[in-house]
Amino acid sequence: MSALYADTARLERLIRELAPAYGPAGREEQVRALIRRHVEPLADEVSVDRMGNLIALVRGAGGPGARRVMVAAHMDEIGLMVTHIDDKGFLRFAPVGGHGAATLLGQRVVFADGTCGTIGAEKLDDIKDLKLDRLFIDIGAADREDAARRVPVGSTAVFARDVATCGSRLIGKALDDRAGCAVLVELMHQLRAHPSVHDVYCVFSVQEEVGARGARTAGYAISPDLALAVDVTATGDTPKGEPLNMTLGGGTAIKVKDNSLIAHPWVRQLLVDTAAAAGIPYQMEVLPYGGTDAGAIHLTKTGVPAGALSIPTRYLHSPGEMVDMRDVAATADLLVAVLQQPLAGGPA
Ligand code: CO
Ligand code: ZN
Repeated sequence: MSALYADTARLERLIRELAPAYGPAGREEQVRALIRRHVEPLADEVSVDRMGNLIALVRGAGGPGARRVMVAAHMDEIGLMVTHIDDKGFLRFAPVGGHGAATLLGQRVVFADGTCGTIGAEKLDDIKDLKLDRLFIDIGAADREDAARRVPVGSTAVFARDVATCGSRLIGKALDDRAGCAVLVELMHQLRAHPSVHDVYCVFSVQEEVGARGARTAGYAISPDLALAVDVTATGDTPKGEPLNMTLGGGTAIKVKDNSLIAHPWVRQLLVDTAAAAGIPYQMEVLPYGGTDAGAIHLTKTGVPAGALSIPTRYLHSPGEMVDMRDVAATADLLVAVLQQPLAGGPA
């Protein structure tokens, strides 16, 4: 596996550390602490804003074509928030982010303090009746008081799952978007080795899974000349899968459109031209649904030219998300390559 810039082994180590960590939307503090340890030695300034976004600035050398660039990856993952506890101590829940009932059945979940549970279902006459409101979390509680003491209403669980390696591929929960967070940390390593003219704001955002809420305020505060989200995208390469252009191992995916963003044509072309010139494998991404932090950032103030680099991922929002390290490395490579050039042209 030969990447242009990225240290693929370091990237993989980062993902293996970050993905198993607990961090549903609104409760990103454990993930933030892990990432902070990595970025402190690499950044010129590190701060945490009022929303909880972790913002690490790598200052550029300046000069002609130097810009303020914001690169965002979200720390949060999808979760299950306890809404009600019955007399016997079974927990009903509301989804935090997008969950499928079929994916949840039988999964092991974990709360912030390490309390574990398993997801059971009511007796169903027809599998078609399998909906979120027929499911519950069982933490093995004796009764309501016992359960409420350990995981009061409002507590949030996430999938309990480590990362497995299968050749060049990784399987785990929350690769959406801890793989993107790892890419940003790797970008910071590379900016130290290959300095850029640009001021690069690496934003590890909160609450993307509930509507890119953290990126909205961070985008406003930074007010960048160019914004790039680094997130995951779906693939169409599984049996009877969706008719999508993206494939696992097909390279980094350059976003054209999703439900939150039409990538600025200047940004899209900059990414395509840079990837082509550097020989970085890439594919075009059109996703007929979904969104990323770029969707929130591009609508701040008078508008921000924005795009996204996506890591093709199978089985999104499941405990068995799968990425290919070659795509992860290509994503980091393209980011580094883009930031190696002065940015001329583009919207005023
Ligand atoms: Co997601
Ligand atoms: Zn995501």
